[in-house]
Amino acid sequence: MRTNTTLVINPKGGSGKTTITTNLASYFAAKGTPTAIMDYDPQGSSLNWLRLRPGDAPRIHGANAAPAKGLRLRSIDMRVPEETRQLVIDGFAGASGLVLQEMLSRANCILIPVAPSPIDIHATANFIRDLLLSASLRARKLRIAVVANRVRSSMPVYQPLERFLNSLSLKLLTRVGDSDVYLKAAETGTGIFEMDFASSALERQQFQPIVDWVESEPLFVAKPAVPAARPALHSVSGPAWRSVSGAPRLIR
Ligand SMILES: Nc1ncnc2c1ncn2[C@@H]1O[C@H](COP(=O)(O)OP(=O)(O)OP(=O)(O)O)[C@@H](O)[C@H]1O
Ligand SMILES: [Mg+2]
Repeated sequence: MRTNTTLVINPKGGSGKTTITTNLASYFAAKGTPTAIMDYDPQGSSLNWLRLRPGDAPRIHGANAAPAKGLRLRSIDMRVPEETRQLVIDGFAGASGLVLQEMLSRANCILIPVAPSPIDIHATANFIRDLLLSASLRARKLRIAVVANRVRSSMPVYQPLERFLNSLSLKLLTRVGDSDVYLKAAETGTGIFEMDFASSALERQQFQPIVDWVESEPLFVAKPAVPAARPALHSVSGPAWRSVSGAPRLIR
């Protein structure tokens, strides 16, 4: 088994990176999957949410990847337990350069929450185009998905966002509504999947496509088939492990 790493990122502040990160992580933790959050944001919002988590809530490991200050040893704070199966990285607004490359190099999947407003779409558009054009990302066949966040019920479909995504042949994974349930979860160190079902049914339904998309990344690795008859005294070489379902699907 390997660790699936999901990077939640958008250069625009307040787009919902921490909200998606914490709810995704708490979903996995609640179902018993060893889960960790790596927080790159110097504000440490995801790590603060972890501190608020009730003592009896399923455990989520918190790793601090924010730039080191003083005598802090970043490489030690960034470690995650070996048994981690789902790692969710909370990116930070305006990330660029080496730190952006570092986050991208860790990821298998990239989730981009975007608020359906012209200003936010504009700020996000160039970032997504750059990602899609990046030779190294194409070579690694990273998957990218976009989530509309804080969608108001009075305006459930936002044409400019749909048009922009269509122009890049990207699909909108889901629309996450603007809901107080997310605020309550943020205040209490929990996630929507850990709350009373009746009070969070709509939010769960809207969030589920995110979970399904992340879970569709294969976690298992298997040994290559052992040849039926192996000549004595000959060593068998070749790749040690491979992904059961082959290479992950291409970006869109
Ligand atoms: N779907 C939602 N419904 C209601 N409130 C939301 C929703 N998504 C996010 N929020 C709220 O909006 C604010 C910003 O969200 P969040 O902190 O997740 O964004 P962010 O992208 O992590 O911000 P930053 O760039 O500052 O790290 C928070 O107060 C959060 O609780
Ligand atoms: Mg944040």
